Amino acid sequence: MREFKGTVAITGGGGYVGSALVPDLIEAGYRVKVLDLFLYGEEVFDQYSSEDGLFCIKGDVRDPSVLEAAFSDTDAVIHLACISNDPSFELNPALGKSINLDAFDLILGALEKSPARRFIYASSSSVYGLREESDVTEQSPTTPLTDYSRFKLECEYKLQDWSNSTGIAWTILRPATVCGYARRLRLDLTVNVLTMHALENQKIKIFGGKQLRPNIHINDMSRVYCLLLDADKESLCSQVFNAGYQNETVENIAMKVKTVIGDGRIELEYVPSADTRSYHVNSEKIKCQLGFEAQYTIEDAIQGLTDVYRQGLIRDGLENPLYHNIKRMQELVLQ
Ligand SMILES: NC(=O)c1ccc[n+]([C@@H]2O[C@H](COP(=O)([O-])OP(=O)(O)OC[C@H]3O[C@@H](n4cnc5c(N)ncnc54)[C@H](O)[C@@H]3O)[C@@H](O)[C@H]2O)c1
Repeated sequence: MREFKGTVAITGGGGYVGSALVPDLIEAGYRVKVLDLFLYGEEVFDQYSSEDGLFCIKGDVRDPSVLEAAFSDTDAVIHLACISNDPSFELNPALGKSINLDAFDLILGALEKSPARRFIYASSSSVYGLREESDVTEQSPTTPLTDYSRFKLECEYKLQDWSNSTGIAWTILRPATVCGYARRLRLDLTVNVLTMHALENQKIKIFGGKQLRPNIHINDMSRVYCLLLDADKESLCSQVFNAGYQNETVENIAMKVKTVIGDGRIELEYVPSADTRSYHVNSEKIKCQLGFEAQYTIEDAIQGLTDVYRQGLIRDGLENPLYHNIKRMQELVLQ
């Protein structure tokens, strides 16, 4: 019988970030309970079983009894479940609100009944919106521009106001845009989508171009969550952390894509964009306080995606709904 170092419940663990994080946690010796609707497929953890310490619960975070079952017998909970980009959210704002905001109270309620001692909430660096200052720290004002970002921030406030009697150490993470290959792949995120356009069409569509965006490689994103689980309670309790690495304009990311893929035919095509979010995120706090240093670059993400594409592991990268949250949500008509 395998000995585990603890049990972690992850809501939304079947998504892009979860599909990298769950295997890393199993490798690190955790027993992992994934609570997810598996909107993007159930085969993501096919290679693991309960003997490895993986337990998948197909359910909705809007159901209190499901939450209580998922959080029972856990040491920590990571909350990732979400309608996780603006277009998918705007497709059905009432649905988005019910999952991204209203369910948060149910999650806090279920946490109070659970033995968990640690709670990590995946917010987003998009809560900063458009900022003038050259460096956005955790102290900078927040000006979320969309409901997706506004509700991320409202959940942060709910957590900060939460007067729980359980002594749970909670942490808010504001990740940059994630990039790179994972088993549940998202190709609707900046680096990934530009790479896919270059590979499929030898043409990179640059929406806008001058917006500065913070990025973090999926492997580093997973390392951040692992670090938060292992950190001593005092250094992470009631803290907000940015988690990003290279800040680059969309135009520069496109240049990197062209260079890394190394196909001289690749052209850059500029398309006007209504998305004006632009920010340079400073991630010094997580470095100083928790010792987190990114190990993977944007170039690594582009190379990783290119390698799996050339192995034939990405099929119909620009159209396949499983890689594009908005297309999948249109297909599912979730209530
Ligand atoms: N990926 C990024 O670039 C990024 C950046 C900043 C913050 N985040 C945050 O990190 C988290 C994970 O992001 P991701 O890219 O893995 O998103 P994702 O869309 O790939 O995964 C979200 C998961 O939540 C599940 N889900 C949705 N509604 C649910 C419900 N009602 N009940 C149970 N499960 C449900 C989906 O099935 C999916 O597996 C999200 O909260 C997102 O806002 C992501």
